[in-house]
Amino acid sequence: MARVAVVTGGARGIGEAISVALKDAGYSVVANDINEDAAKAFTERTGIPCYTWDVSDFESCKAGVAKVEAEIGPVEVLVNNAGITRDGFLHKMAPEQWDAVMKVNLYSVFNMCRNVMEGMRARQFGRIVTISSVNGVKGQAGQTNYSATKAAVIGFSKALAAEGAAKGITVNCVAPGYTDTEMVRAIAPDVLKGIVETVPVKKLCSVQDIARAVVFLAADDASTITGATVNVNGGIYMQ
Ligand code: NAI
Repeated sequence: MARVAVVTGGARGIGEAISVALKDAGYSVVANDINEDAAKAFTERTGIPCYTWDVSDFESCKAGVAKVEAEIGPVEVLVNNAGITRDGFLHKMAPEQWDAVMKVNLYSVFNMCRNVMEGMRARQFGRIVTISSVNGVKGQAGQTNYSATKAAVIGFSKALAAEGAAKGITVNCVAPGYTDTEMVRAIAPDVLKGIVETVPVKKLCSVQDIARAVVFLAADDASTITGATVNVNGGIYMQ
């Protein structure tokens, strides 16, 4: 039986590429998204089911995971990909900007992991991969909220990796750099050209580059890679 993999925020961008790559690698993939129209369009494009719920809400995650487990099977691979930005310098940041990013990027990781962890422990197998960011690793002006959450998920993953290690559960992060998504393509061409010049490999990461790292960490035989952060950033920041 194919292992069941859930990808949050999976209906577009990096999450879509991860969902497709996991499907191609033989997993039974279920995407999650908050956006119903995007979810429908994604399923039409890929043939992958997409369940809609808000990962920032604990009870919605509990119900969502229960539905996936009843209809598809126990969640053995979880990819925490859903994320948002609400950028602004701290001296101008509204509490709402702070809270929204905390809830979607950080609370979601607790909400999802908490609802799959007991099952993974009981079955003695699990793979959890959380999408961090280069801006969580190095810090970025205008993103105190975002950088805080993306650094926090790395600490969270190390602690949970320690808890899951003796139970066959690995917990890792992937930290993308500038990635060729709609958001990045919306940047003015001359500004984007300047950004690309700063990347040692002189190009953006593709969504497939990020997905490749996730599939690698999700594999059964990646059983001793845990508590790690894999940087996929074109060399823009080297730890
Ligand atoms: P995106 O905005 O294209 O896609 C994110 C998806 O998450 C959307 O489909 C959205 O509807 C969904 N989503 C948002 N809030 C949600 C919620 N509360 N519940 C469920 N789904 C929700 O984003 P992108 O660019 O594909 O990013 C994916 C992840 O990669 C994010 O965590 C982001 O922070 C991270 N990342 C992206 C980089 C980039 O250059 N695009 C660079 C570094 C990290």
